[in-house]
Amino acid sequence: MIQQIQTEIEQLKRQLDVAVMAHSYQGQEILEVADAVGDSFQLSKQAQVCSQSRILLCGVHFMAETAKLLSPDKQVYLAHPGAVCPMAGQFTPEQIMAERAKHPGCKVVAYINTTAALKAVSDVCVTSSSAEQIVRNLDADEILFIPDCNLGSYVQSRVPEKKIYLLPGGCPVHASVEPEELSAARALYPEAEILVHPECRKEITAGADFAGATSAIMQYAKQSDRNAFIIGTEISITEHLQVDCPDKRFYNLSKKLICPDMKLTTLMDVLHTLRDISRGTAQEILIPAQIQQAAQRSIEAMLRLGA
Ligand code: 13P
Ligand code: SF4
Repeated sequence: MIQQIQTEIEQLKRQLDVAVMAHSYQGQEILEVADAVGDSFQLSKQAQVCSQSRILLCGVHFMAETAKLLSPDKQVYLAHPGAVCPMAGQFTPEQIMAERAKHPGCKVVAYINTTAALKAVSDVCVTSSSAEQIVRNLDADEILFIPDCNLGSYVQSRVPEKKIYLLPGGCPVHASVEPEELSAARALYPEAEILVHPECRKEITAGADFAGATSAIMQYAKQSDRNAFIIGTEISITEHLQVDCPDKRFYNLSKKLICPDMKLTTLMDVLHTLRDISRGTAQEILIPAQIQQAAQRSIEAMLRLGA
Protein backbone atom coordinates (compact mmCIF):
# COMPACT_ATOMS: atom_id res chain seq x y z
CA MET A 1 0.00 0.00 0.00
CA ILE A 2 2.75 2.47 1.02
CA GLN A 3 4.70 1.53 -2.11
CA GLN A 4 1.63 2.15 -4.29
CA ILE A 5 1.23 5.64 -2.81
CA GLN A 6 4.94 6.33 -3.26
CA THR A 7 4.76 5.23 -6.92
CA GLU A 8 1.88 7.62 -7.64
CA ILE A 9 3.78 10.42 -5.84
CA GLU A 10 6.86 9.80 -8.01
CA GLN A 11 4.74 9.89 -11.20
CA LEU A 12 2.99 13.13 -10.24
CA LYS A 13 6.29 14.74 -9.20
CA ARG A 14 7.74 14.12 -12.64
CA GLN A 15 4.57 15.08 -14.49
CA LEU A 16 4.14 18.35 -12.54
CA ASP A 17 7.84 19.27 -12.23
CA VAL A 18 7.72 19.26 -8.42
CA ALA A 19 10.68 18.91 -6.04
CA VAL A 20 9.62 17.39 -2.72
CA MET A 21 11.72 18.78 0.13
CA ALA A 22 11.48 17.16 3.54
CA HIS A 23 12.88 18.28 6.88
CA SER A 24 14.66 15.41 8.61
CA TYR A 25 11.97 15.41 11.34
CA GLN A 26 9.56 13.85 8.80
CA GLY A 27 8.80 10.13 8.76
CA GLN A 28 10.89 7.60 6.81
CA GLU A 29 8.13 6.98 4.21
CA ILE A 30 8.18 10.71 3.34
CA LEU A 31 11.98 10.92 3.20
CA GLU A 32 11.88 8.08 0.66
CA VAL A 33 9.96 10.22 -1.87
CA ALA A 34 11.88 13.43 -1.17
CA ASP A 35 14.30 15.01 -3.65
CA ALA A 36 16.03 16.82 -0.79
CA VAL A 37 16.22 15.93 2.91
CA GLY A 38 17.97 17.97 5.56
CA ASP A 39 17.82 20.42 8.41
CA SER A 40 16.72 24.02 7.94
CA PHE A 41 20.06 25.19 6.56
CA GLN A 42 20.41 22.31 4.10
CA LEU A 43 16.84 22.78 2.86
CA SER A 44 17.44 26.52 2.34
CA LYS A 45 20.47 25.73 0.18
CA GLN A 46 18.47 23.18 -1.83
CA ALA A 47 15.56 25.59 -2.36
CA GLN A 48 18.02 27.95 -4.01
CA VAL A 49 19.54 25.48 -6.44
CA CYS A 50 16.77 23.00 -7.30
CA SER A 51 15.82 22.96 -10.99
CA GLN A 52 12.10 22.14 -10.69
CA SER A 53 9.56 24.93 -11.10
CA ARG A 54 7.53 23.85 -8.06
CA ILE A 55 8.52 22.98 -4.48
CA LEU A 56 6.40 20.88 -2.13
CA LEU A 57 7.64 21.32 1.42
CA CYS A 58 7.12 18.61 4.06
CA GLY A 59 7.78 20.33 7.35
CA VAL A 60 6.26 23.45 8.90
CA HIS A 61 4.98 26.71 7.44
CA PHE A 62 8.11 28.86 8.04
CA MET A 63 10.13 26.38 5.96
CA ALA A 64 7.78 26.77 3.00
CA GLU A 65 7.96 30.56 3.42
CA THR A 66 11.77 30.34 3.46
CA ALA A 67 11.72 28.31 0.24
CA LYS A 68 9.50 30.99 -1.33
CA LEU A 69 11.87 33.75 -0.16
CA LEU A 70 14.79 31.95 -1.77
CA SER A 71 12.94 31.00 -4.95
CA PRO A 72 10.37 33.76 -5.49
CA ASP A 73 9.68 32.64 -9.07
CA LYS A 74 8.78 29.10 -8.09
CA GLN A 75 5.39 27.91 -6.90
CA VAL A 76 5.76 26.68 -3.32
CA TYR A 77 3.31 24.48 -1.41
CA LEU A 78 3.18 23.07 2.12
CA ALA A 79 2.07 19.42 2.36
CA HIS A 80 -0.05 20.03 5.49
CA PRO A 81 -1.52 23.55 5.77
CA GLY A 82 -1.92 23.22 9.56
CA ALA A 83 1.76 22.51 10.26
CA VAL A 84 2.92 25.69 11.98
CA CYS A 85 5.93 25.97 14.30
CA PRO A 86 4.62 27.48 17.58
CA MET A 87 7.94 29.30 18.09
CA ALA A 88 7.83 31.08 14.71
CA GLY A 89 5.22 33.66 15.69
CA GLN A 90 6.00 34.13 19.38
CA PHE A 91 6.71 37.85 18.79
CA THR A 92 5.23 40.49 16.52
CA PRO A 93 7.32 42.73 14.23
CA GLU A 94 6.21 45.69 16.39
CA GLN A 95 7.61 44.05 19.55
CA ILE A 96 10.94 43.43 17.84
CA MET A 97 11.17 47.00 16.54
CA ALA A 98 10.45 48.29 20.06
CA GLU A 99 13.19 46.02 21.51
CA ARG A 100 15.64 47.13 18.84
CA ALA A 101 14.99 50.76 19.76
CA LYS A 102 16.07 50.00 23.37
CA HIS A 103 19.56 49.00 22.16
CA PRO A 104 20.71 51.54 19.57
CA GLY A 105 23.43 50.09 17.34
CA CYS A 106 22.47 46.47 17.94
CA LYS A 107 21.76 44.12 15.03
CA VAL A 108 18.74 41.85 15.03
CA VAL A 109 19.57 38.20 14.37
CA ALA A 110 16.54 36.00 13.65
CA TYR A 111 16.59 32.25 13.98
CA ILE A 112 15.21 30.94 10.69
CA ASN A 113 12.34 29.38 12.69
CA THR A 114 10.37 32.64 12.45
CA THR A 115 7.65 34.05 10.22
CA ALA A 116 8.61 36.01 7.09
CA ALA A 117 7.22 39.11 8.85
CA LEU A 118 9.82 38.73 11.63
CA LYS A 119 12.60 37.97 9.17
CA ALA A 120 11.65 41.24 7.46
CA VAL A 121 12.48 43.29 10.58
CA SER A 122 15.80 41.49 11.15
CA ASP A 123 19.28 42.16 9.78
CA VAL A 124 20.23 38.55 9.23
CA CYS A 125 18.76 35.08 9.70
CA VAL A 126 20.63 32.13 11.16
CA THR A 127 20.01 28.42 11.46
CA SER A 128 21.15 26.38 14.43
CA SER A 129 24.15 25.25 12.36
CA SER A 130 25.25 28.73 11.31
CA ALA A 131 24.23 30.88 14.33
CA GLU A 132 27.59 30.84 16.12
CA GLN A 133 29.63 31.69 13.03
CA ILE A 134 27.29 34.44 11.86
CA VAL A 135 27.04 36.13 15.27
CA ARG A 136 30.83 35.99 15.60
CA ASN A 137 31.40 37.53 12.16
CA LEU A 138 28.62 40.12 12.25
CA ASP A 139 29.83 43.74 12.31
CA ALA A 140 28.07 44.55 15.60
CA ASP A 141 29.09 44.11 19.24
CA GLU A 142 25.49 44.00 20.46
CA ILE A 143 22.94 41.55 19.11
CA LEU A 144 19.23 41.13 19.70
CA PHE A 145 18.69 37.40 19.12
CA ILE A 146 15.09 36.30 18.36
CA PRO A 147 13.01 34.28 19.14
CA ASP A 148 14.77 31.32 20.81
CA CYS A 149 16.40 32.32 24.11
CA ASN A 150 17.93 28.86 24.50
CA LEU A 151 19.72 28.90 21.16
CA GLY A 152 20.62 32.55 21.85
CA SER A 153 22.09 31.70 25.22
CA TYR A 154 24.03 28.78 23.69
CA VAL A 155 25.48 31.17 21.10
CA GLN A 156 26.32 33.63 23.90
CA SER A 157 28.35 30.90 25.65
CA ARG A 158 30.31 30.34 22.43
CA VAL A 159 30.77 34.01 21.54
CA PRO A 160 31.39 35.68 24.93
CA GLU A 161 33.00 38.75 23.38
CA LYS A 162 29.58 40.02 22.18
CA LYS A 163 26.56 41.13 24.17
CA ILE A 164 23.46 39.17 23.19
CA TYR A 165 20.02 40.38 24.28
CA LEU A 166 17.39 37.66 24.57
CA LEU A 167 13.60 37.55 24.74
CA PRO A 168 11.54 34.85 26.46
CA GLY A 169 10.84 32.70 23.37
CA GLY A 170 11.80 29.18 22.42
CA CYS A 171 10.88 25.77 21.08
CA PRO A 172 8.39 24.17 23.49
CA VAL A 173 9.44 20.68 22.37
CA HIS A 174 13.20 20.95 22.98
CA ALA A 175 12.76 23.22 26.02
CA SER A 176 10.63 20.54 27.70
CA VAL A 177 13.65 18.33 28.46
CA GLU A 178 14.44 18.35 32.21
CA PRO A 179 17.89 17.96 33.82
CA GLU A 180 16.52 14.91 35.70
CA GLU A 181 15.94 13.20 32.34
CA LEU A 182 19.55 13.83 31.41
CA SER A 183 20.89 12.27 34.61
CA ALA A 184 18.42 9.36 34.36
CA ALA A 185 19.51 8.64 30.76
CA ARG A 186 23.19 8.77 31.75
CA ALA A 187 22.61 6.36 34.62
CA LEU A 188 20.62 3.98 32.38
CA TYR A 189 23.08 3.98 29.46
CA PRO A 190 26.50 4.91 30.91
CA GLU A 191 28.25 3.75 27.73
CA ALA A 192 26.31 6.21 25.53
CA GLU A 193 27.25 9.74 24.50
CA ILE A 194 24.55 12.41 24.87
CA LEU A 195 24.00 14.56 21.76
CA VAL A 196 21.54 17.46 22.04
CA HIS A 197 20.11 20.30 19.97
CA PRO A 198 20.91 23.86 21.16
CA GLU A 199 17.15 24.59 21.32
CA CYS A 200 17.34 22.63 24.61
CA ARG A 201 17.76 24.58 27.86
CA LYS A 202 21.18 25.70 29.08
CA GLU A 203 21.38 22.99 31.78
CA ILE A 204 20.87 20.34 29.08
CA THR A 205 23.41 21.64 26.51
CA ALA A 206 25.94 22.19 29.34
CA GLY A 207 25.49 18.62 30.64
CA ALA A 208 25.60 16.91 27.23
CA ASP A 209 28.66 15.53 25.44
CA PHE A 210 27.86 17.39 22.22
CA ALA A 211 25.45 20.15 21.19
CA GLY A 212 24.70 20.90 17.54
CA ALA A 213 22.13 21.32 14.80
CA THR A 214 20.22 18.33 13.47
CA SER A 215 22.75 17.72 10.66
CA ALA A 216 25.67 18.07 13.09
CA ILE A 217 24.14 15.55 15.52
CA MET A 218 23.62 13.06 12.68
CA GLN A 219 27.12 13.55 11.33
CA TYR A 220 28.66 13.22 14.80
CA ALA A 221 26.84 9.94 15.54
CA LYS A 222 27.69 8.44 12.15
CA GLN A 223 31.38 9.33 12.31
CA SER A 224 31.98 8.50 15.97
CA ASP A 225 33.75 5.31 17.02
CA ARG A 226 31.29 4.99 19.91
CA ASN A 227 28.43 2.53 19.61
CA ALA A 228 25.68 4.08 21.70
CA PHE A 229 24.07 7.52 21.73
CA ILE A 230 21.30 9.29 23.61
CA ILE A 231 19.63 11.72 21.22
CA GLY A 232 18.32 15.03 22.56
CA THR A 233 16.32 16.28 19.62
CA GLU A 234 13.09 15.38 17.81
CA ILE A 235 12.42 11.67 18.06
CA SER A 236 12.55 11.11 14.24
CA ILE A 237 16.31 11.70 14.34
CA THR A 238 16.76 8.78 16.73
CA GLU A 239 14.75 6.62 14.31
CA HIS A 240 16.58 7.77 11.16
CA LEU A 241 19.96 7.26 12.81
CA GLN A 242 18.94 3.75 13.82
CA VAL A 243 18.01 3.01 10.17
CA ASP A 244 21.26 4.55 8.86
CA CYS A 245 23.51 2.87 11.46
CA PRO A 246 21.96 -0.53 12.28
CA ASP A 247 25.02 -1.67 14.26
CA LYS A 248 24.87 1.24 16.70
CA ARG A 249 22.31 1.84 19.47
CA PHE A 250 20.26 5.04 19.72
CA TYR A 251 18.10 6.04 22.67
CA ASN A 252 15.75 9.01 23.13
CA LEU A 253 16.73 11.52 25.79
CA SER A 254 13.06 12.21 26.49
CA LYS A 255 9.69 10.87 25.35
CA LYS A 256 8.53 14.52 25.18
CA LEU A 257 10.76 15.20 22.17
CA ILE A 258 7.93 14.77 19.68
CA CYS A 259 6.96 17.83 17.65
CA PRO A 260 3.20 17.61 17.00
CA ASP A 261 3.45 20.02 14.07
CA MET A 262 6.25 18.12 12.36
CA LYS A 263 4.23 14.95 12.86
CA LEU A 264 1.11 16.32 11.14
CA THR A 265 2.27 15.53 7.61
CA THR A 266 1.49 12.08 6.25
CA LEU A 267 2.38 10.39 2.98
CA MET A 268 -1.27 10.83 1.93
CA ASP A 269 -0.94 14.60 2.49
CA VAL A 270 1.93 14.60 0.00
CA LEU A 271 -0.18 12.67 -2.53
CA HIS A 272 -3.28 14.84 -1.97
CA THR A 273 -1.28 18.06 -2.41
CA LEU A 274 0.21 16.77 -5.67
CA ARG A 275 -3.28 15.83 -6.90
CA ASP A 276 -4.51 19.32 -5.89
CA ILE A 277 -1.59 20.91 -7.79
CA SER A 278 -2.57 18.96 -10.91
CA ARG A 279 -6.21 20.12 -10.53
CA GLY A 280 -5.07 23.72 -9.91
CA THR A 281 -6.70 23.80 -6.46
CA ALA A 282 -3.60 23.62 -4.20
CA GLN A 283 -3.00 26.57 -1.88
CA GLU A 284 0.23 28.32 -2.91
CA ILE A 285 2.49 29.97 -0.31
CA LEU A 286 2.42 33.70 -1.07
CA ILE A 287 4.25 36.50 0.76
CA PRO A 288 3.29 40.19 0.43
CA ALA A 289 5.84 41.96 -1.81
CA GLN A 290 7.09 44.36 0.88
CA ILE A 291 7.76 41.55 3.39
CA GLN A 292 9.22 39.35 0.65
CA GLN A 293 11.86 41.94 -0.23
CA ALA A 294 13.00 42.72 3.33
CA ALA A 295 12.89 39.09 4.51
CA GLN A 296 14.77 37.96 1.42
CA ARG A 297 17.59 40.34 2.35
CA SER A 298 18.04 38.71 5.80
CA ILE A 299 17.92 35.21 4.32
CA GLU A 300 20.45 36.11 1.64
CA ALA A 301 22.70 37.69 4.29
CA MET A 302 22.57 34.36 6.13
CA LEU A 303 23.70 32.43 3.06
CA ARG A 304 26.50 34.93 2.49
CA LEU A 305 27.77 34.92 6.08
CA GLY A 306 27.21 31.29 7.08
CA ALA A 307 29.18 28.60 5.31
P1 13P B 1 17.32 22.59 12.52
O1 13P B 1 16.63 22.02 11.36
O2 13P B 1 18.00 23.85 12.15
O3 13P B 1 18.23 21.69 13.24
O4 13P B 1 16.16 23.04 13.54
C1 13P B 1 15.50 22.16 14.34
C2 13P B 1 14.07 22.42 14.38
O5 13P B 1 13.49 22.49 15.41
C3 13P B 1 13.37 22.57 13.12
O6 13P B 1 12.06 22.83 13.38
FE1 SF4 C 1 9.08 24.47 15.98
FE2 SF4 C 1 10.33 23.11 17.89
FE3 SF4 C 1 8.63 21.86 16.28
FE4 SF4 C 1 10.98 22.72 15.35
S1 SF4 C 1 10.65 21.14 16.90
S2 SF4 C 1 8.97 22.95 14.37
S3 SF4 C 1 11.24 24.59 16.52
S4 SF4 C 1 8.13 23.47 17.76
